Amino acid sequence: MSDLKESLLSLKEEFDSALSKVTDSEAAEQLRVAFLGKKGSLTQILRGMGQLSSEERPQVGKVANEVRTHMEDYLTSKITEIKDMEKSLRLRREVIDVTIPSKYEGAGSRHPLNMAINEICDIFLGLGYSIGEGPEVEYDKYNFELLRIPEGHPSRDTQDTFYITDSILLRTQTSGLQIRTMEKCKPPLKVICPGKVYRSDALDSTHSPVFHQIEGLVVDKGVTMGDLVGSLQLFAKKLFGEDTKIRLRPHHFPFTEPSVEVDLTCWSCGGKGCRVCKGEGWIEVLGAGMVHPEVLENCGIDSEEYSGFAFGIGVERTAMGRYGIDDIRLLYENDVRFLKQFK
Ligand code: PHE
Repeated sequence: MSDLKESLLSLKEEFDSALSKVTDSEAAEQLRVAFLGKKGSLTQILRGMGQLSSEERPQVGKVANEVRTHMEDYLTSKITEIKDMEKSLRLRREVIDVTIPSKYEGAGSRHPLNMAINEICDIFLGLGYSIGEGPEVEYDKYNFELLRIPEGHPSRDTQDTFYITDSILLRTQTSGLQIRTMEKCKPPLKVICPGKVYRSDALDSTHSPVFHQIEGLVVDKGVTMGDLVGSLQLFAKKLFGEDTKIRLRPHHFPFTEPSVEVDLTCWSCGGKGCRVCKGEGWIEVLGAGMVHPEVLENCGIDSEEYSGFAFGIGVERTAMGRYGIDDIRLLYENDVRFLKQFK
């Protein structure tokens, strides 16, 4: 019996001396397993208790319990100590010196396309329009079908795009948002919808397979072509200055009737003719027209009661004119030397 007691006491001493040297939680855990674990030294010693008499057993048991409690308590307090130490070390290591000058080289600037979109939308917000949006991956029916461009229609040729499936494509124009808007909301309607559009065009100084449009739509009782002209005139003056004039040329869009293309007096020469407008004095900026009655009916709007106008502004062209950019590719290359100029 005294053998066992001695083993227990020397185990305790061994444990104490080992634990006192421990400085990290991993080593503490290893000690716990070695001494107190299922296969640890304490269990080994206690196996010997089977040989003791029934008088001896409680006495040794008492010592064994004391040793175990001592070991557990010591271990717990050691682990707490280590954790505290590790935490304060970590905090010291993670201290941030807020007085070190930063490497940050100043704020960025808005992209000229976003500047143009914001400027144009602001003008129309001021005229009481609200802003709408829609998906770039669009159903054929919104991009073409309900806009009176059925399969095989020649105007699909000029708007070839990237197809996801036979009936889902990357939208070629924001005009599908006319349909989406009229399906969702009933007139009176006054919305402006900016967004990216896609066409399988090769990239050159004036074309890009991805570009931006802003769609405008107004539907109410008694809306006329005069309202369209007035709104666009106001838009042109606000964006390019009071002297800016607009010119309407007859055109064809399947979803408007009548349809027009709208030119603005050249922002570079004011109309005299120069390199920018190729001597014309005018620059084409948008397509527009009166919403075709069939399009209204496609969206459940009574074309006898309501009429509307729509327009689609080319953002790139407007931005290039507004900020004097001569190559569309500059807008997509994200060269900071170019972008920095728009602070
Ligand atoms: N969606 C036409 C285009 O991309 C522009 C347009 C918009 C024309 C609205 C009329 C009305 O060319």
